Amino acid sequence: MPLRDWTFEKLFKNAFVYNILWEDTEVDERFLGVDEDSSVLCISAAGCGVANHLARNPRRVDAVDINPHHLALAALKASAARYLESHEELYSLFGLGRHPNPERVVRRLVAPLPRWIRAYWKLRWRMFEKSMVQEGLTAQMLKGVRAITHTDAEWLRRRIGETVADRKRAIEVAFGAASEKPWIRAALNSPLNLIALGVNFSQRDRILSTEQTDLVTFLISHLKRVAETDLERNWFAWYAIAGHFNHDRPDAVPPYLRECHHRESKRATTTISYTNGNLFDTLRRAGPDTWTHYTLCDAVDWMPHPVQQELLDQIVRTSKEGARVLYRTVEDDSLVERHGMERHLKLDVDASQIASELDRTRQYRRVNFYTVAH
Ligand SMILES: C[S@@+](CC[C@H](N)C(=O)[O-])C[C@H]1O[C@@H](n2cnc3c(N)ncnc32)[C@H](O)[C@@H]1O
Repeated sequence: MPLRDWTFEKLFKNAFVYNILWEDTEVDERFLGVDEDSSVLCISAAGCGVANHLARNPRRVDAVDINPHHLALAALKASAARYLESHEELYSLFGLGRHPNPERVVRRLVAPLPRWIRAYWKLRWRMFEKSMVQEGLTAQMLKGVRAITHTDAEWLRRRIGETVADRKRAIEVAFGAASEKPWIRAALNSPLNLIALGVNFSQRDRILSTEQTDLVTFLISHLKRVAETDLERNWFAWYAIAGHFNHDRPDAVPPYLRECHHRESKRATTTISYTNGNLFDTLRRAGPDTWTHYTLCDAVDWMPHPVQQELLDQIVRTSKEGARVLYRTVEDDSLVERHGMERHLKLDVDASQIASELDRTRQYRRVNFYTVAH
């Protein structure tokens, strides 16, 4: 691994970066096909995906992350989705980010979890006193962006009724001028901002070579792509521009927070494990025929080529026949083809195409689903 990515990882894994998963789990659920016979290996990130799987009641979920903050949050979300009787209470904790009695509810939710997660939340339950939604480097960075660009929930509400062309003009006005200022450009290009974005140096280079542009221009064009989505329901747009979800719509939140999902999640009998460490340690320890599903976020973009090759080899080695693999990437070309693995990992062309078009984060060029053939 290049030294700059090694340093990035050291800093990243000790920081509370995200409090939501910046990936469209509604799209994932549609194409993954998780069911009661499934065993899922996933990179947890902030855990909206881990919590989401519970509604399908898979046999097991093995959640892994190098970042203990993200994994502990994922564990709390999954416990809340499963053990809270009241949907109102679940929504209060993770929709609004606060709870009238956070110490009591957090203590109850972590009781069945591993000791290190209990110890983590014993020190951190206070983040639900004011709002967990404001916690983390990404939330802080977005708060700064809102202050500089004078954008907020009202600004976003005005965009909902507009044409896409008008929305893009409004983005130019609010963000274009600000992004010309040298100190803002310097801040956006800084390594601290890369950490807040969750983009390491390798992934940044992949973005820049695919988009043939600089990072600031890419960020503005990304906002314009978000403007093409259903802004009333796009919970990523709300989180970024308003600083909270759109509470007027029950379906403008990650699926695990919706009442119909919660009803199913409460019945789940899934065994969930949480491993704070590198995905490769978990893969190398596992035997053949272990998992039916792999959800990798966009971690593949963080990896140098030889590491990507090992990842694909390990997935083929540890998977059941017909396993499904999901990853996101900022690149257009196929990771699997690049590594000559097409015989064992078959791209689901239609699902990947539709998912890439539907993903409302608009952060990735591709949302790819593969099926393993041994
Ligand atoms: C790749 S990051 C990017 C952001 C992601 N798209 C999101 O929306 O949250 C997601 C998560 O992957 C974790 N991660 C990256 N590489 C990993 C690895 N090799 N093993 C385990 N976790 C990893 C990070 O700690 C982070 O929590």
